Amino acid sequence: MIRQILTLLLVSTAAFAQRTDTTYRQNYRPQYHFSPRINWTNDPNGLVYHNGEYHLFFQYNPFGIRWGHMTWGHAVSPDLFNWKELKPAIPEDKDGMAFSGSCVVDSKNTSGFGTNAMVAIYTNHTEKIQSQYIAYSLDNGRTWTKYPGNPVIDLKEKDFRDPNVIWHEPSGRWIMTVVLSTQRKALFFASRNLKQWERTGEFAFADNGPDGIWECPALIELPVEGRKEKKWLLLLSLGGGMPAGGTGMRYWIGDFNGKAFRTDMKPGDVRLVDYGKDYYAAITFNHAPKPLSLGWLNNWQYANDIPTTPFRGAMTLPRELKIVRTKNAYELRQLPASQIRPLTSDSFQWRGIDVAELNKSLKDNRIKGDSYVLTVEADLTADVAVAVRKAGEEETVIGYDLARQELYVDRTKSGNTKFHKDFPARTSAPLKLATTGANSLIPTRLKLQIFVDRSSVEVFANDGQVTLTNLIFPGPNSQAIEFRGEGWRSVTLRNVESVW
Ligand code: FRU
Repeated sequence: MIRQILTLLLVSTAAFAQRTDTTYRQNYRPQYHFSPRINWTNDPNGLVYHNGEYHLFFQYNPFGIRWGHMTWGHAVSPDLFNWKELKPAIPEDKDGMAFSGSCVVDSKNTSGFGTNAMVAIYTNHTEKIQSQYIAYSLDNGRTWTKYPGNPVIDLKEKDFRDPNVIWHEPSGRWIMTVVLSTQRKALFFASRNLKQWERTGEFAFADNGPDGIWECPALIELPVEGRKEKKWLLLLSLGGGMPAGGTGMRYWIGDFNGKAFRTDMKPGDVRLVDYGKDYYAAITFNHAPKPLSLGWLNNWQYANDIPTTPFRGAMTLPRELKIVRTKNAYELRQLPASQIRPLTSDSFQWRGIDVAELNKSLKDNRIKGDSYVLTVEADLTADVAVAVRKAGEEETVIGYDLARQELYVDRTKSGNTKFHKDFPARTSAPLKLATTGANSLIPTRLKLQIFVDRSSVEVFANDGQVTLTNLIFPGPNSQAIEFRGEGWRSVTLRNVESVW
């Protein structure tokens, strides 16, 4: 009895302490990325633009700071950065937990729930079966009603989840992409009303590692830059065995005929969405003015152990997507959503050729920080690097290795790395540089946009050709920036205001 009272006391004091710390000023609290006020989050869900608001639903545990009791948390934003957290949308209940899924706006009232109803399509999870459910909202997502006819798809499968629904204009139908996770298959279903679904096709690919179960698919049609053509992009999250270690994402580009996705890409042609360790479960926004994606800034290897409090888990920067046609392939390009721009203010600009002068100028002007965007250009003749979140030995290094033709982020000395054996890491991306002029023999032009935010570093290289997203947990005073190697030509640093 006494023991019970004591535990109760302990639990409620902890809960109280959590509730009181709502400052968003904690050392590791992202200042311009979304994270829930308290408690655990993983995947973004139901990304949709409706009536001037971006909606971010997210896998949420209302009762704790580790995975559990999965519920759809909810936040809204006019600009993808200033988020307002609302009360959870779809709770765990007697049917099961509310796993990942998507959201559409039913502008033609195909479902009969009401014109412009928001309809969420998600996985109901129980120990034995995962099946697809729907719920709707008639008040801009503020309150939700579960459809009494659920489940809308039940294959009596244990690992059947993460439905991603889009409107397909040519066939006048809703299309769902959903995965049989352990069978590593994506299935396609079509529907006229979001309630009755017909199975139309599947997609499988035989070249992933031994532990890569499939999760969180997303399908979107994108224009190909500079051409009259459009192509379909299939995003997929892999539950293990990725090159950077643990979980990560791949993509395929191909065609969708209203029934199934197919691609000319050959097995072994592995395209990564991001080369860092912490980019997972990204899906795209429905009905948005531009093609946009958002992911979970984490890796299942250590997600439950990262040293943040009173929250655990954050979203990545929103990204604008496009497809380009290179010499012999279609490729994905990703850039940070342009809405970041008004949140930034110029604080440092440098043009020159001498790295010692650059570092002196940074020191003299006391340029440092933990929440900024660094835009740099270099014409390299040898390896270069820039260290951020630095104090003494502690630093996170972003560099280019000319011999290997790769861009890397080294967080082995980034601060607190000891909480999990898989956290310390040097991640890298293949990146061939372009020549800078007719006379130059070596390809040399490197352009980087580096987004630092308290506990993360996201690097976008050469106009979104490759990206690296990584978590870091440095000391609060590790804020210096230091450049290494010759060839830096221009450096711009813009501070980012806290959105909280
Ligand atoms: C991906 C995932 C999904 C699932 C959800 C559960 O991170 O495992 O497949 O729906 O998380 O929280």
